[in-house]
Amino acid sequence: MVDEVITHYPVSKRSASLPLLHLFQERFGYISDDAIVWIAQKLGLEPINILELVTFYPMIRREPAGKHHIRVCRTLSCAMAGSYRLLDTFCKHANIDPDPHNHEGHLLKSPDGRYSIEFVECLASCGTGPVCMINDDFYEAVSDEEVPQLLQNYP
Ligand code: FES
Repeated sequence: MVDEVITHYPVSKRSASLPLLHLFQERFGYISDDAIVWIAQKLGLEPINILELVTFYPMIRREPAGKHHIRVCRTLSCAMAGSYRLLDTFCKHANIDPDPHNHEGHLLKSPDGRYSIEFVECLASCGTGPVCMINDDFYEAVSDEEVPQLLQNYP
């Protein structure tokens, strides 16, 4: 699979960096230090060339997410429509401590590892906020009342 992806970029293997990062994250859930070194070697690059992409793009994770990962948009339109309250409501119903100081990494996670949650920037549906994603599913105009039912769909 990796070799096949690289063939899509015959002019410069470096262009395969992001597709490989997505592939690794899909397979392993996050990008480890070992993955950075491996991808760099595979593409004839230095690890720093891969690390700079990993640290630039917020959708690339450096730590494992929960079984179900929730992203809540916090950019202006969604913030005004209640996204900060929505994140708190998700935390309450998913048994996630909303205080980032009580978590080791960047993601907030439930103790059982079932859910993780984070704020993200604009998800490109600014007129229907607050919006969120659970795994790859997109939800618009999410009310606090909907949250328990939404979470039940992701056991
Ligand atoms: S501001 Fe939330 S989708 Fe754009």
